[in-house]
Amino acid sequence: MHRALFVFEILLEVFMHLIPDQPPDEKPSPLRFFSAKSTLSWDISSRKSLAALARVCKTFHEPAMDLLWADTDDYGIEPLLGCVKRLHPLVYQSCLNHHDRQNVRDSWSQGIEPLSEHEVHQFLRHAARVRYLSVRWSQTRPGSEFHLNLLTVFPIGTRLFPRLQALDWQPDTNIKLHLFLSPTLRRCALTGVYSDLKTIGTFGRELESLSIWFFVESKSPYDLSLLSKAVRSCMRLKHLRCPSLDSTAWKHLSNLPNLTTITIYGALDGFMLKCDNVIFTPFLNVTSLSFRLPSAADIITVIRHSEFPSLKKFRVMVDVLPCLEAEQLVHALTQCNACDTLEYVSVEGFDSVAKRGLNKRSDKPSAVIKPLLCFPQLRTLDLSLHHTIYLDNDLLLEAMSSWPHIHTLHLRSENVRHPQFQPTVTFRGLFAALRFCPHLTALSLDMDAVNIDVDPDAESFQHTSLHYLDVCNSIAKDPEAVTGIILAMLPGIWELNNRGRKGGVWDEVGEIFEENRRHPNVDSRW
Ligand SMILES: *[C@@H]1O[C@H](CO)[C@@H](O)[C@H](O)[C@H]1NC(C)=O
Ligand SMILES: *[C@@H]1O[C@H](CO)[C@@H](O)[C@H](O)[C@H]1NC(C)=O
Repeated sequence: MHRALFVFEILLEVFMHLIPDQPPDEKPSPLRFFSAKSTLSWDISSRKSLAALARVCKTFHEPAMDLLWADTDDYGIEPLLGCVKRLHPLVYQSCLNHHDRQNVRDSWSQGIEPLSEHEVHQFLRHAARVRYLSVRWSQTRPGSEFHLNLLTVFPIGTRLFPRLQALDWQPDTNIKLHLFLSPTLRRCALTGVYSDLKTIGTFGRELESLSIWFFVESKSPYDLSLLSKAVRSCMRLKHLRCPSLDSTAWKHLSNLPNLTTITIYGALDGFMLKCDNVIFTPFLNVTSLSFRLPSAADIITVIRHSEFPSLKKFRVMVDVLPCLEAEQLVHALTQCNACDTLEYVSVEGFDSVAKRGLNKRSDKPSAVIKPLLCFPQLRTLDLSLHHTIYLDNDLLLEAMSSWPHIHTLHLRSENVRHPQFQPTVTFRGLFAALRFCPHLTALSLDMDAVNIDVDPDAESFQHTSLHYLDVCNSIAKDPEAVTGIILAMLPGIWELNNRGRKGGVWDEVGEIFEENRRHPNVDSRW
């Protein structure tokens, strides 16, 4: 054998090639979004090859076993339990032989005696090799959380996995979580703000990604000071996803040089950031900021009191977003030093309150577009509000000429167009604006298509890149004329959406449009 092959690192490097690269979206599951998992991916054939290599000779054994055990994939701690003689037949009969893991119903570990002292070393035989661990939750692997009950023999303070780098903790309980929290962790995804988080001071030193999966709908209380303390002890964070934080935690975050993504998801009732006089240091390297909260108050406070000079993506989803607050939010965004970088803005107000008629209707359309003109890099603007967004031909022209890179523009006022504020953007205004944004592919807006002010036979202008048009709350009278204009001047459209306007003229427009796309030559007028 060549001398080079006696070097552990070289062999490891060679054996790594047996592991296929995983495309990032390979396993689309909601939990993947929060997942701590690496991009290592296993298929059964690479596992078989590694197992075979481990048996070739003593030199191959270590690196092959290291890789084989690095990631136990969806099986979590089961393979380790399989090393225990007493449990081996149970593990391998019930689970590992199943090809269709999702359908494993039985929980073999229910009612089984926990590990005994003398079985500990069998269980731990390969534990030091494990670097990526995903402890599944009951819905996808029914009963698998019962396995944790087998670990009672280990006292608090034991670190079962001294080299663990990523933990994906999916059971909605923290039973035995402490055994898994290792100081070597870089990525950690949890399902709640658990008391074990207080040990983060020791295990959090290297942590680069912390993700706490929290249901905004649950509104269940969590320990804010515990969460805040945990976040404050993480010095190397790059990615954070968690429920609302207090201002000391925000202050800490603003000082982290490598922090790039912040997602705040879920909150206690009420506002977290009461003190209005906090000044945060600029969030120098944060590129993505997302919120899913009951209201926008805290979001406005945060962005008003800091700067985000690298911000590319800003995303907000809130339950209630009155007109005034939407304007304040947009205004604060323009003041946070992101004008040269911001590419993506999405603001969505669900306004369940408005839907129930409890909210006073705004007596004016919201002026949210004009301030956004200061973002020349904008590629996507997606506003979905429960009040009318102010827009006319002139403003549309100004907006499109301010956003030369725009490719997606959705301006949706959900089904509540005030009769007093009829849409004023006409076809002429639309086409004048479209000349400035050759890359636009998707557009949603309210139009006045009653007033037909272009003649498709006389105009030579065509915008070919627009593929998707949602007419939202547009008004129209003459379906043939409207469809004629769309087909002649926007030949790239393959989806004409009129879901907001079921029944009436837009249904007819939709039918004529579909008919023409299927038989483009039937009517020579188009
Ligand atoms: C930030 O990232 C750089 C480059 O990856 C690294 O060298 C540095 O130690 C990190 N700083 C902190 C505080 O994590
Ligand atoms: C963070 O931003 C600063 C200033 O823009 C820059 O010098 C530094 O390289 C950035 N650090 C990382 C890790 O991107």
